[in-house]
Amino acid sequence: MISTNFQHGIIIVGAGLAGLRAAVECAENTDVAIVSKVLPTRSHSGAAQGGVTAAIGNEEEDRWEWHMFDTVKGSDYLADQDAVEIMVRDAPRVIYELEHMGVPFSRNGDGRIAQRYFGGHTRDYGKKPVKRACHASDRTGRVVLDTLYDQCLRHKVKFYPEHYVLSLVHEDGRYVGVVTYDLSSGDINLLAAGALLLATGGCGRIFKTTSNGFASTGDGLNLAHMAGLPLMDMEFIQFHPTGLYPLGILVSEAARGEGGILRNSLGERFMERYAPTVKDLAARDVVSRAILTEVQQGRGFEGGYVHLDLTHLGEEKILEKLWEITSFVRIYLGIDPVHEPIPVYPTCHYIMGGIPTDTEGRVLRDESGTIAKGLYAAGECACVSVHGANRLGCNSLLDTLVFGRRAGLAMKEDIAKIEHHPISDEPLEKAKELIGSLFDNKGPEKIDIIRRNMQSLMMDHCSLFRSEDSLGTGLEEIRLLKKRLKNIEIVNKGRYFNYELMEAIELGHQLDLAEVMLLSAFRRQESRGAHFREDYPARDDNNFLKHTLIFPGREVRYKPVAVTRFRPEARVY
Ligand code: FUM
Repeated sequence: MISTNFQHGIIIVGAGLAGLRAAVECAENTDVAIVSKVLPTRSHSGAAQGGVTAAIGNEEEDRWEWHMFDTVKGSDYLADQDAVEIMVRDAPRVIYELEHMGVPFSRNGDGRIAQRYFGGHTRDYGKKPVKRACHASDRTGRVVLDTLYDQCLRHKVKFYPEHYVLSLVHEDGRYVGVVTYDLSSGDINLLAAGALLLATGGCGRIFKTTSNGFASTGDGLNLAHMAGLPLMDMEFIQFHPTGLYPLGILVSEAARGEGGILRNSLGERFMERYAPTVKDLAARDVVSRAILTEVQQGRGFEGGYVHLDLTHLGEEKILEKLWEITSFVRIYLGIDPVHEPIPVYPTCHYIMGGIPTDTEGRVLRDESGTIAKGLYAAGECACVSVHGANRLGCNSLLDTLVFGRRAGLAMKEDIAKIEHHPISDEPLEKAKELIGSLFDNKGPEKIDIIRRNMQSLMMDHCSLFRSEDSLGTGLEEIRLLKKRLKNIEIVNKGRYFNYELMEAIELGHQLDLAEVMLLSAFRRQESRGAHFREDYPARDDNNFLKHTLIFPGREVRYKPVAVTRFRPEARVY
């Protein structure tokens, strides 16, 4: 294998919204490169449908304090409130900045940016829903991604497309680069930089039913973990209430924001029972559990789903505001949402936990806030933590844009202070050894079978309802799968586009992360947000108002939550 060394000022891993936004911030006068395992515009941020939240009040009165309250309440009081305040106060600026960059937002009758309802977003501290989600029909992530990509091209950001990161390079107490496998040439490269940002997105592909694209395998999370860093709050895994049954593809919450109603097999609007004030617009954890409860109590449809009914909205509104999901439903199920209800069930959508960072994107080594020099993280792979135990819809695009930018700014300042020096070739040699040993491996196991076992196991043991027994069994079974992974054989020994090789490495990351999730969930003996323990159904602020940190070697430690404005209260919708 040929290997080459490249030097840049800043390297960003991941070309989703967080990575692109960070690049735009630091590209002027800095040599910035983005490494992405997919073509940049195929990044999973492009699948985000519903919108970006900001209290700009274009449709009705709104305030950042209400946005903050909703985010904290939605998080079941686990979010760090200092970080949430930064995010929601910056949100209006983010929207106007996107508008000026060229994002084609949908407009209201006055020609201003249109806003719509989204789950958990309310006015006056929970009194009734508020229109807060700025959107471009139901293609918001797509158009923001394309706009930021254009901005990166304008700023001459260097892209390494279809480069898969094999390891992070750590030298003399600082993270100084990455080793990549260039899928198209087969080369192994060492990319050195003054600062490194991980913006690699989530890991929904660990679960059988997911809205996440194939690339969401959590590589960045586990690369950081393997490089000695803890992962935070990994027990909090969001199931979006409306995955398209039976595929799991996202049917945007915008459908309910625009007036869609969930109904059980008796035709009842069942959310009235679970969330009398905001009904279908409750936070996602509440709605997802309600759907499964309906199914478990025999009021679902055969196969385990409920209906999302848009038929009363009328064709014009559906096609204008929900065009993308309408086309998915027509293409994949042959159902026309204008005339028939959509079958939906919860689908794994988002990981609230991740690589712990401060509000400038600096990665934290421990619960005391020690900085991992040279390393930054932003977006879904990071945990800053603004989502706590449950994220509100449309707060994730906001998170990527606010904290991606802040990480960009911090990296620019950081690298101005350091001296670049050549790094050794040792990480390259290690990466080649890893690939050599994977190619030499012989055994009867198959990647696809182990992956499917993992996905089913995680659905059974670590999804919406959990218990000590089930999590314990899940942990044992994941550890067995990790052993089985040692006995795979990679049949394709080719150097170009060797997806078999890449998938073997991805699966190793997924299994490690699955173990971290199960262990974090096992140790949290309470119910909070997306983590519901049947054996501990109540929230326990006395013992568990704290973040979980899992260190390499599986040591479990905890970190206090930053509570500034809102004391934990009972969470009623
Ligand atoms: O439902 C949605 O459109 C998803 C939005 C989000 O996850 O923020």
